[in-house]
Amino acid sequence: MLRRALLQASTRRLFPPPPPPSSSSLSFAPLRRCSSSSSSSSSSSSSSSQVSNDHFVEHPEGTSQPPPSATISVDRSALYNPPEHSHEPSADTELVKHLKNIIKFRGGPITVAEYMEEVLTNPKAGFYINRDVFGAGGDFITSPEVSQMFGEMIGVWAMCLWEQMGQPNRVNLVELGPGRGTLLADLLRGTSKFKKFTDSLQIHMVECSPALQKLQYQNLKCVSADGSDSSSEKRCISALAGTPVSWHATLEQVPTGLTTIIIAHEFYDALPVHQFQKASRGWCEKMIDVAENS
Ligand SMILES: C[S@@+](CC[C@H](N)C(=O)[O-])C[C@H]1O[C@@H](n2cnc3c(N)ncnc32)[C@H](O)[C@@H]1O
Repeated sequence: MLRRALLQASTRRLFPPPPPPSSSSLSFAPLRRCSSSSSSSSSSSSSSSQVSNDHFVEHPEGTSQPPPSATISVDRSALYNPPEHSHEPSADTELVKHLKNIIKFRGGPITVAEYMEEVLTNPKAGFYINRDVFGAGGDFITSPEVSQMFGEMIGVWAMCLWEQMGQPNRVNLVELGPGRGTLLADLLRGTSKFKKFTDSLQIHMVECSPALQKLQYQNLKCVSADGSDSSSEKRCISALAGTPVSWHATLEQVPTGLTTIIIAHEFYDALPVHQFQKASRGWCEKMIDVAENS
């Protein structure tokens, strides 16, 4: 079972070799920078998995520092042990097995950012990769899916911006993480009467999910350059406004050199982040670990 632990963000201090592995599950724990005496965090924990603070050595500021060959050790002395699960344990999914393998081969916990990246965009089993996650049949809803006015208003905004730019003949309109493609479909439908604007657009969809790319292709009413409607095309024309559309897995793949308008709705909050927590001993980075007996 995967559990969270806290690891100090950075340390130059020498810890002695890590304590022998505990036989119980890992838990959510602030990992100690160093301590010479037991603290309230360790005393509040109640599991046999706890490790004595004696394993950690204090090197007060200003005293001579240990050699740079220091190893980073995980202090599990303040483990929080949640109550036993009331439900039946379930078998590990492929993704959980994969995450456990990463942690085991790494020989230590991974950051929340690494964990998020695998969970969201792992090419085989990432959350976004194989299915439509939006709406009643999915897991959440976003504003473009609630009302077509959202995409239409972004269309008005984009057109105003294009006007302010001096009505360039060619503009890259990039959408990062376009979901179902609803926002852009509403934008194109809403602005399709303004031919000069829509004729200037080169649309670039930055999307990591093959399943969502396919949905975007359908919702933008795309046809490939030869007239077929094969969604395997990475470049096509949207029948909504006669606009060329192409797909990219990353922003770096979008051609540069043109004036560019970028739309990113609910995209940045889907990206992996590092998490830190200020503890009594300073800032600590949260890490994901795996129970040693699992
Ligand atoms: C929360 S959804 C937002 C969808 C859409 N913008 C909306 O508001 O309905 C995040 C979108 O970003 C995509 N995405 C997530 N991480 C990505 C990454 N690293 N690279 C490209 N696309 C990503 C997802 O597949 C999904 O389309």
